[in-house]
Order: sequence, then C-alpha cells, then structure tokens
Amino acid sequence: MDYIQEIERLKKEKNAVILAHYYQIPEIQDIADYIGDSLGLAQAAAETKADLIVFAGVHFMAETAKILNPQKKVVLPDINAGCSLADSCPPVDFRKFKENYPDHIVLSYINCSAGIKELSDVIVTSGNAIQIVESFPKEQKIIFAPDKNLGAYLNQISGRNMVLWNGTCEVHNQLKTEAILKLKQQNPDAKVVAHPECDGPVLALADMIGSTNAMLKYTQNSNFQKYIVASETGILHQMQKKSPQKQFIVVPKDENCNCNDCPYMKLNTLEKLYWAIKNESPEIELSEEVIENAKKPIVRMLEISKAAGLI
Ligand code: 13P
Ligand code: SF4
Repeated sequence: MDYIQEIERLKKEKNAVILAHYYQIPEIQDIADYIGDSLGLAQAAAETKADLIVFAGVHFMAETAKILNPQKKVVLPDINAGCSLADSCPPVDFRKFKENYPDHIVLSYINCSAGIKELSDVIVTSGNAIQIVESFPKEQKIIFAPDKNLGAYLNQISGRNMVLWNGTCEVHNQLKTEAILKLKQQNPDAKVVAHPECDGPVLALADMIGSTNAMLKYTQNSNFQKYIVASETGILHQMQKKSPQKQFIVVPKDENCNCNDCPYMKLNTLEKLYWAIKNESPEIELSEEVIENAKKPIVRMLEISKAAGLI
C-alpha cells in the first residue's frame, strides 16, 4: 500500500490535520500539515479548524491538543509513545512535594501529564520558559517541574532560585561533554547548538541554547557552515532541508552510534499513522474535570506567549 497517498486521501475525506514534532521520522515530518516544537504545536492545536487531529508526537503533546480541543478527536499513532520526563513526575508524588511549599506557585514544563498540568499555575515550553519566568516579580516563589536541567538553566539566566523537581529527559540528559569536546576537536569550525534539557556541563559548551525551533532558526540565519547539535536526531532533517549547503553533526548518545534517537518519538511510523487516521484510534480520552483544570495553565501560557510576541 502507498501509505502516503492513502494518508493524503483520508486527510481530505475526514477533514483531518497532521501535527508533527521535529523529532518524528523524516517520512512523517514530510507528510505533516504542521511541524514544530512544543510551543508551535500547542498553538497549532489551539487554532486548528480540523475535525480530527492526528498527533505525530508523544502522549503529553496529544493530551495537550485534546485539552485545547475537548470536542475533537485526537489520535496518537502509537499510544505507548510516552516521555521519560513526564513519567518522572507522578501527580500523587508531586502533590505531596507541592504541599511543602504552600507559598510557591508552580510553573511546569509542558512535558508532563495532564495530572501535573492540573496542579500547575502556568505551563511553559523551552520556547517561552524564560519569558514566562520573568513575567513574575523577582520575589515570587516558584516551583519548577519536572525538568531539573531546564529549571537549573532558567535559574542561572534569570538569577532566581526556583525549587526544582528532580526529573530529566533520558535523551538529552545522556549526552556527554566528552563526546562534544571530541567533535569540537575534529571540527574546530563548528558551532555547538544545544537544547536546554541537556545538563549544565553540556550547556556550558554550547554557542547557542534553545528550543528545537530556536536551534533550527539559528542554523538557518547564521553564517556558520557547520553545527554540532546536542539534541534529538530528528531535528537534523529540517536543519538539512532548510540549509542544504550546511553540515550538521548530531552528538552521539554513545560510542556505538551516530545518533541520538528518542525511543518514544520513534515509536510512530508511517504505517501506524495510516491506521490511526483510518480507524480514528488510538484516541486520547480525558475526563471533563481534568480538561477544565489542565486547560487553565495552558491558556495562561498561550496568553503570556502572545503578549511577549512569541506566537
Ligand atoms: P521542544 O519541542 O519544546 O524544543 O522540546 C523538545 C522535546 O524534548 C520535546 O519532547
Ligand atoms: Fe520526552 Fe526527551 Fe523524548 Fe522529548 S526527547 S519526548 S523530553 S524523552
């Protein structure tokens, strides 16, 4: 079967939209109606006129799309496409943690479950985190969850002392300074771009730190010809597409590969996407109460991002 042709046909027939994250396999990125980072995807989900949302990403992203579109069907090609960061922060444990800081507000990274979003005041993504942190007065006490690396980076650049939940992204957190130093030695003319989910020592080696979309724009707009990319392999597809004459080298996760793949993002395939759009399943389902509670901090995020000119 020609999955691409069939997906295109079903998309029209069902008034469906395919939203894909930059970490999806190239074939999925190429068939998507919208490709973006977590912030761009949340905004695209908030604005879509489609009846069916096919979310080519991971569970928390599809859940966010459902929270913003309770009346629409949202499907995820592989329902097991989770996220180590979201899993590191179970709502029961976080609720207890939060009780220790009654005078703090909660800013949560979008990479968390709907249950954590319900316990949060504002959601942030790597594309708007600093602006959202700085939208609060310096004396405001804040808990930041669940990514301790992004939280520590935000503390460093904002001069704050947010209380951090101890979670990490297993993909970015495994990147090592030794691998970057070796690549820098082999490619002295390369610039290092890094995602803020990487740990502090890795970020200290970066020439530019930003969300997937910010890294992509940087490589497009700057005059350098070579980039060492401390992030997930999928982003290289768009980098290479937008700047075919430039060279991109992903920081390998270990000595045995030239890749750094997110095992959850890579569960989605073109075939699973075809079945998801055809069967309108597996579907994301949430109770009305969860949707109502989790929606408030997401809407707040979109409002602050709009006011800051980020979307
Ligand atoms: P962004 O898309 O916000 O850059 O986040 C990267 C990521 O790890 C998504 O799971
Ligand atoms: Fe989660 Fe990291 Fe994979 Fe993103 S790259 S989905 S944060 S495990």
